[in-house]
Amino acid sequence: MEWKTFEKYIPITEENGEYVRELAAYCQASPRRPAFHLVPPCGLMNDPNGLAYYEGKYHIFYQWYPFGPSHGMKHWGHFISEDLVSYEASEEILIPTEEYEKNGCYSGNGIPIGDKLFLYYTANYKTPAGKVPKQALAFMTPDGKIEKYQKNPIIDEKPEGLTGEIRDPFVFLRDGMYCMLLGGGTIDGQARLLFYQSLDGLEWEYKGTISLGNLKLGYMFECPGFVRVGDKDVLFLSLMGFHPEGDRYQNEFSSIYLIGQLDIENLKFEVESYGELDKGFDFYAPQPFYDKDGEPTFFAWFGCGMQELPYKNEDMWIHGLTMPRRLAVKEGKLVQRLASSIAGQYETVTLKEGKAEPEKNSFHLQVEPLEEGIWQIQIGEEDDNFRILVETKKGRLTVDRSGLKQKICCEYGEQRSLSFEPGKPLKLDLYYDNTFAELFINEGEEVMTFRAFPSKLKLCVKNKEE
Ligand code: FRU
Repeated sequence: MEWKTFEKYIPITEENGEYVRELAAYCQASPRRPAFHLVPPCGLMNDPNGLAYYEGKYHIFYQWYPFGPSHGMKHWGHFISEDLVSYEASEEILIPTEEYEKNGCYSGNGIPIGDKLFLYYTANYKTPAGKVPKQALAFMTPDGKIEKYQKNPIIDEKPEGLTGEIRDPFVFLRDGMYCMLLGGGTIDGQARLLFYQSLDGLEWEYKGTISLGNLKLGYMFECPGFVRVGDKDVLFLSLMGFHPEGDRYQNEFSSIYLIGQLDIENLKFEVESYGELDKGFDFYAPQPFYDKDGEPTFFAWFGCGMQELPYKNEDMWIHGLTMPRRLAVKEGKLVQRLASSIAGQYETVTLKEGKAEPEKNSFHLQVEPLEEGIWQIQIGEEDDNFRILVETKKGRLTVDRSGLKQKICCEYGEQRSLSFEPGKPLKLDLYYDNTFAELFINEGEEVMTFRAFPSKLKLCVKNKEE
């Protein structure tokens, strides 16, 4: 089937809606659709948006370009779930139909206020002289319908000294006031976190930018997030223009967490510790929310930047979201756990040393704690594989994609490494879901998220020292 190319900035309309449905039907048959990860019906998925538990259901929205596997006019696609295990696609989506959002409905979050779910987003508005920042609002009502706010845009200004690239509202409640974070940067190239407040979620007042102490974190923030984890405040920031430091921040763009206390009065975040949220290749724009028990949880984009992936033109869909992860703070570090309800859906293969072949192309490889040695875990065949290498004495773990035939974004390197306490036994849980891999190290002390397209799924764990 020949698929059409569309102009970059057109929304779904009555006329092209049928085409999108046909494309989605074609994509369902793609051999690379995962079992447990959210992927778009067709086209491109990026950031998770509007995550919320509202009226007994989870709403998971996402950045969506429906017409093909590339970036273009962004809509908010939508899934609904009761348990974060099974999901149903919803027709209630955000379509950029208005003049103020003529270049797309960009990222933002969701929060229940009164009996409605408020969905905040950036109305992307380009002019020949650059972007004009505009933030907008839509409401979901208890009957599940979505409507845009008549008085959009709710914020239509650019504070002095900042560029027009201001986006990705994240709204939360603190001490009875609604607070909004927005990402941006100064004209002279320094990332900034903007702060607004509101009594009703409708009218917003600019308070200034939040100081992060001495931290210099690139030229622009995207997708800020805020969540309480135990007695700590945790900020998520997605960074543009932040450079690699040793093993860390190797991707085109990186996402970090900061643990500390937000001091609204003084517009300060007292940073106690911070780190890279995920050490894999394909991870960006994490968005936190509270699950139905009030537990801090997040989804992230299973992708990063402008990366291309194998098979995208055959598949006509690209990217997805990570599985939802619960957050905890342990000794100043953020720990991420996969909700056990999802983990239990996978076929588990347990290996200490030796070989196995999973029955399905989605499996959970549980590697018994690795004691002293130089361990190699290979997934695939000798001439087409990815490997996890663990050197216990050195305290180093590497995910190596260089043995794969299908290359992915090699310009950012084919290995990602991290260090751990030398001599410490390592427990590994690899959730491989038909090309979507999430590797949890010691129960989520570290996580590495990455895609890999080996043609065969043979598993082998061996100690190279023996
Ligand atoms: C991050 C991002 C956001 C923006 C959205 C557009 O991946 O660039 O800053 O709102 O994607 O799709």
